[in-house]
Amino acid sequence: MQSQKIRLSSSAASIHEQLKAKIIRLIEQNSGVIAFSEFMQMALYESELGYYQNQLCKFGQQGDFITAPEMGDLFARCIANSMADCLNNEGLNNDIFELGAGSGALAAGLLSELEMINVLPDKYYILESSASLQSLQQQTLESKVPELAERVIWLDRLPNNFHGIIIANEVADALPCEVIQMNGGKWQYLGVAYNGEQFIWQPITEVKKLDLPKPLYQTECYTDGYTTELRPLLTGWINGLASSLNTGSILLFDYGYPQAELYHPQRVEGSLRAFSRHQAHSQVLELVGLEDITSHVDFTQVAMSGVSAGLQVDGFTTQMGYLLENGILEMSGSALEQNLEKHYLYSQQVQKLTSPGQMGEVVKVIKMNKNTAVSPKGFHLQDHLCRL
Ligand SMILES: C[S@@+](CC[C@H](N)C(=O)[O-])C[C@H]1O[C@@H](n2cnc3c(N)ncnc32)[C@H](O)[C@@H]1O
Repeated sequence: MQSQKIRLSSSAASIHEQLKAKIIRLIEQNSGVIAFSEFMQMALYESELGYYQNQLCKFGQQGDFITAPEMGDLFARCIANSMADCLNNEGLNNDIFELGAGSGALAAGLLSELEMINVLPDKYYILESSASLQSLQQQTLESKVPELAERVIWLDRLPNNFHGIIIANEVADALPCEVIQMNGGKWQYLGVAYNGEQFIWQPITEVKKLDLPKPLYQTECYTDGYTTELRPLLTGWINGLASSLNTGSILLFDYGYPQAELYHPQRVEGSLRAFSRHQAHSQVLELVGLEDITSHVDFTQVAMSGVSAGLQVDGFTTQMGYLLENGILEMSGSALEQNLEKHYLYSQQVQKLTSPGQMGEVVKVIKMNKNTAVSPKGFHLQDHLCRL
């Protein structure tokens, strides 16, 4: 995708140009090249300009992508069902803590369903790194669940001593990553430089063996030019969540694979992609500030980081397995008795959320527990723990 072929609104063009200039300045201050993670950090999170920080529309049909909670209420209803026993556990006083709440659709859907099934938590905490998304979340909650909105509290850092369920949908894949490439039997980091016209890839240092996931040790299995991603920040992120949790569970939903599959020698181009207007492409250096950038999550790294941080990895499954076990078909089927149009909309959601060709298999769900005997359900129908 070439930026010059795309007609940008004046506000989009201005955001793009200002952010591009800031990144170029950083590159110049760093002797002509920066790590890809620094580029991605600025492209997504630079104050007021980065993709998640600027005011441009991202979520839903008018935006760039539709996440599971944006499709309708079935995703949130299944999660509510999954957590009901934990929230209903007398004396535990469990709350919910969501990271990276996007438009607020999951928070609104969860609170609404938890009220219906009579297990409302006292508090629903949100930690959101984007100020503009935080205000969108407030608007969503005020309009969809006005009577429950006062239970929602926005935090500016991880809480201490949290009791309950920590949840994040498509947040780990938005943490900045590094790009590495096989070159003459060695793994090299690819950084970002500027050639006077555009950002370009530039090999920088060799990757230390200590920083590689195990499958990549076998350099003879990978052809020259094989490109993939590492996400060193993920380990610290999981560590932070584990320290924050006193008792309860962490539930993470994301695009990704266990290590052996993510780093399969046939996946020669890795998974780094930009998303714009519901299309994915690999020219991630092009339209900074105007496109989402993501790469798949290494769920073996998630599990190993969790174990090192004192968590018990208690479940790993596909989104399909999790949603089926938590009643998505029954919910969709029961709408048929009430309203044909609703049933039709629900059938579309079921298809997108569970079909193996769409989000059903590539999106995984992992559950990690701490000091708790009761935890969210949905991990038995398709138990994939042994794949990690
Ligand atoms: C792809 S969006 C997903 C939004 C939402 N969870 C959904 O499913 O629609 C990623 C979200 O994570 C937020 N985010 C990214 N890094 C974060 C971090 N370290 N802590 C909290 N939120 C973060 C972004 O601002 C954005 O709201």
